[in-house]
Amino acid sequence: MEKNFRVAILGVTGAVGRELLSILEQRKFPIAGIKLLASKKSAGQKVRFRGQDVLIEEATSQSFRGIDLVLSSAGASVSRELVPHAVKAGAVVVDNTSAFRMDPQVPLVVPEINPEDIAKHKGVIANPNCSTIIMVVPLFPLHRRARIRRIVAATYQAASGAGAKAMRELESQSREILAGKAPTKEVFPYQIAFNLFSHNSPIKEGGYCEEEIKMMRETKKIFHDDSIEVVATTVRVPVFRAHSEALFVECERPIPLDEVRLILSKAQGIRVVDEREKNYFPMPVEATGGDDILVGRIRKDPGKENAFALFVSGDQLRKGAALNAVQIAEIWAGISKGEAARR
Ligand SMILES: NC(=O)c1ccc[n+]([C@@H]2O[C@H](COP(=O)([O-])OP(=O)(O)OC[C@H]3O[C@@H](n4cnc5c(N)ncnc54)[C@H](OP(=O)(O)O)[C@@H]3O)[C@@H](O)[C@H]2O)c1
Repeated sequence: MEKNFRVAILGVTGAVGRELLSILEQRKFPIAGIKLLASKKSAGQKVRFRGQDVLIEEATSQSFRGIDLVLSSAGASVSRELVPHAVKAGAVVVDNTSAFRMDPQVPLVVPEINPEDIAKHKGVIANPNCSTIIMVVPLFPLHRRARIRRIVAATYQAASGAGAKAMRELESQSREILAGKAPTKEVFPYQIAFNLFSHNSPIKEGGYCEEEIKMMRETKKIFHDDSIEVVATTVRVPVFRAHSEALFVECERPIPLDEVRLILSKAQGIRVVDEREKNYFPMPVEATGGDDILVGRIRKDPGKENAFALFVSGDQLRKGAALNAVQIAEIWAGISKGEAARR
């Protein structure tokens, strides 16, 4: 008989949390009971899940008694504080934040790439950064064929990557500007509507921001390849949802473009959108709400035999966060891919 799990969502009112709830529902994850957790501010509100109103509770160190699985997306500091309590209470945590990603004891997993790492967990399994996931899912099958040595990435990241409030700020600033008013800035440091700026994470060593460093470090850990070089420029753009990325990729061995296209068209979690004659390629509005990462602009690097270029768009609230986390939970729960698709 199929086992049903007692599941908690930590950060259920957030952009990722809401998506977690809807993906659990869509994919019919086997749930015996659900606990919805957020900050004190949201406690007492109700959220609809599988036809019922479920009360949101304030997350505390005592929230995890009797819970089998925690899907956590309440920010890194909340995870650092509460995840150890969840693990102590006997739950397994799939964590969407950056709190534990680079901890050598914690597997960092993309199910299309390193599902076998899930079994090594000691209570916590980390979900990678959203820009990293959207980059590595299409690149991994090409890495297996031709061994990628270097990736140069430039991102075009949606406002929702900074959470639910940031998404609302893009909307309200757009209305203000169109009404001839000055935009109100609360979440982002600069105007996001009708503008773009370097990713709003702190600048660290060598002038790279935290988001860029995450893409560089996490790729090595997920691919189990410390020698792979990643250099990224991350940019916030006035798009509501779905990140896009321009990727320049250098491999150890040459790989014909037809083969790049064939490998991508057969790979899991990817849809090739590459119609040169129509100038039709991946777009965030078409990636929004979908599970697949769209891949196109497949071109040879004219200066290097072993290199090619791509452009990708993926819904970072789904595959870049909530969907990836639920896919990890399905593998942890022993639900096969075929089974998950049939549900
Ligand atoms: N957005 C993305 O595309 C994305 C992608 C990958 C990973 N992530 C990561 O996922 C996490 C959440 O991101 P998000 O975009 O969903 O942010 P968000 O929309 O700002 O949501 C934050 C959530 O955390 C809850 N929270 C805040 N303080 C809390 C506390 N002290 N105790 C319990 N809950 C608390 C909030 O509850 P209240 O509503 O009650 O304040 C809300 O549910 C972040 O670590 C982020 O880096 C985000």
